[in-house]
Amino acid sequence: MSAHPVDRRKDFYQRIDAHGMTPLWEVLHNLVPPTPATPCQPALWRYETVRPFLMESGDLISAREAVRRVLVFENPGLRGASSITHSLYAGLQLILPGEVAPCHRHAQSAIRFIVEGDGAYTAVDGERVVMRPGDFIVTPAWTWHDHGNPGGVPVVWLDGLDIPLVRFFDAGFAENGAEEVSQPTGSADARTFSYPYEAARDALMGVRAGASLDPRHGARHTYRNPVTGGYPTPTMAAFLQWLPRGFAGQASRSTDAAVYCVVEGRGRTSVGGTDLHWGPRDVFVTPSWTPVRHFADDDAILFSLSDRPAQEALGLWREEGSA
Ligand SMILES: [Fe+2]
Repeated sequence: MSAHPVDRRKDFYQRIDAHGMTPLWEVLHNLVPPTPATPCQPALWRYETVRPFLMESGDLISAREAVRRVLVFENPGLRGASSITHSLYAGLQLILPGEVAPCHRHAQSAIRFIVEGDGAYTAVDGERVVMRPGDFIVTPAWTWHDHGNPGGVPVVWLDGLDIPLVRFFDAGFAENGAEEVSQPTGSADARTFSYPYEAARDALMGVRAGASLDPRHGARHTYRNPVTGGYPTPTMAAFLQWLPRGFAGQASRSTDAAVYCVVEGRGRTSVGGTDLHWGPRDVFVTPSWTPVRHFADDDAILFSLSDRPAQEALGLWREEGSA
């Protein structure tokens, strides 16, 4: 009498396992889910909670020794992976007066959104730009970059990098500069890597004046590289959005998880069943394909970034909403 089919299968799986094989039919549902099934969770980091730890880290280690003094925001569903979403890394970086974060370059590209403090600079291929709150600076893949703070106050910014994406492709390279501070190469065009707040805010107010509000996103400005017209980096998009006081947004969802940094105002974002209450300088994350609704208590401005360009390039990006 032959064995029960379940036992025969188990025996079969064990025998093919020894040869480095596994049956698709046992994992097909997980491999090809009907809708995105992310381990990423909604989460918020309150600036008033994070800032004392960040300042404490300034006593523990210098920017020079740390190379980059950053407290990494780890998504609660991805602890240990240095990831805020499956594809993106984010953290707050501190540079104290008189400090230098030494020159290096890497395959990962970065968006740096200034959260607090005036007077620090980022140099890209030796071309220095000053960093002011609300500005963001791009350090494109494989460009030399260093940061310095010749000013008198601590400077803090949100770093957003495509570290997990590059890790996924096993395509990461990195190199330290021969000198601590990069030398101008003449190859960097500041217009393509520096996005001052005032210009973006003006553009946003233009969007606000020119059209009726999007019921999901309020008025939203998509940052564009002024030379290429494309996104700021090949893997990351950035947005600035304005929500009027009393705004109660309709639900929308998209396949790009987003990292938000609050610039002005207070409000709440409902993400699936989770309410994230936010105020200035707080950082929060909305996972892929989870319904998002924004509510504003005051006139509010939110900066956000996501991996949308990478998803669009791969033909994967989708959005669904009631607008
Ligand atoms: Fe870097």
